[in-house]
Amino acid sequence: MNTEVLKAAELLKQGEIGAIPTETVYGLAGNALNESAILKIFEAKNRPFFDPLIVHIAAFNQIEDFVEEIPAKAQILAQAFWPGPLTLLLKKKPVISDLVTAGSDLVAIRIPNHPISLELLKSLDFPLAAPSANLFGYVSPTEAKHVTQQLGEKISFIIDGGSCEIGLESTIVGFENDKMIVYRVGGISLEELQRIGGEFELNINQSSNPKAPGMLKSHYAPSKKVIFRNWGDYLSNISSENLGIIAFDSFYEFVPIENQRILSQKSDLNEAARNLFSALRSFEDSDVAFILAEEFPNEGLGRAINDRLSRASFEF
Ligand code: TXA
Ligand code: MG
Repeated sequence: MNTEVLKAAELLKQGEIGAIPTETVYGLAGNALNESAILKIFEAKNRPFFDPLIVHIAAFNQIEDFVEEIPAKAQILAQAFWPGPLTLLLKKKPVISDLVTAGSDLVAIRIPNHPISLELLKSLDFPLAAPSANLFGYVSPTEAKHVTQQLGEKISFIIDGGSCEIGLESTIVGFENDKMIVYRVGGISLEELQRIGGEFELNINQSSNPKAPGMLKSHYAPSKKVIFRNWGDYLSNISSENLGIIAFDSFYEFVPIENQRILSQKSDLNEAARNLFSALRSFEDSDVAFILAEEFPNEGLGRAINDRLSRASFEF
């Protein structure tokens, strides 16, 4: 086994926490069955206890240790998409602490699709709770250096697994009477989900009441102000040197070219998703004060890109 993975496994067994690469974003992992490790995760991220954590497992057959029942549709989705960017909300067994689920009787579970994390998970006899490895409310990390910048001092290890292949967090799906309910749009597109699982309901309303599973209204935000939709309402008051742009496939003329990030020159939404969070972070040390973000085509991963940009923006 890779020595870095061995070392991480040792630290995790001792109740320490550290960053692991996944195909979606980097996670801040700790033993999901150890409350003191869980507390360390909340503390390092500055995360409120009402925001529950996703539990990562190595293989489908482990799931019965942690959940009471697996609806037929959940089984079909797991078969189609795991390992991969899909998180299932299922009824938890008592072995999963209320601290992990924020008091809910549902636990969020997924198998990540990254060789390093799979190897690590397989070497452990416990699952890993892992939220995204960023400070609460900030953009998720898609490179190891993003984690180092925000959490480097506070955690025991960071495994560098390269740039995250998907670049957006997992899609979260729950079930009511075997009907799928989508609580967060993410790395599995709604089209793919429907193709495998049939009809679904969307419940991704932005809420400042985080009891609704999923998402806080303001989230995924860099420190620069993101303007999504209705650019015209702001433009007259801001000089173009202080403007940044996040665009799908082409440049704009009214802003210096070095302030613009094209997410996919070949108009590929998967590539755009992969580049989104790095692009948002890239303005942090610049003179850019406002980031104008384009609205992306509302299909495939474009929907999740728009969701993140809208939550990152300060006006809805
Ligand atoms: O792709 C991902 O999902 C990444 C990687 C590391 O796996 N993780 C991630 O975790 O994005 P986090 O904590 O940043 O976002 C997880 C979301 C939270 O918004 C939380 O509200 C929701 O999942 N969640 C977790 N457990 C839940 C539960 N029991 N019921 C409802 N929502 C839950
Ligand atoms: Mg997060």
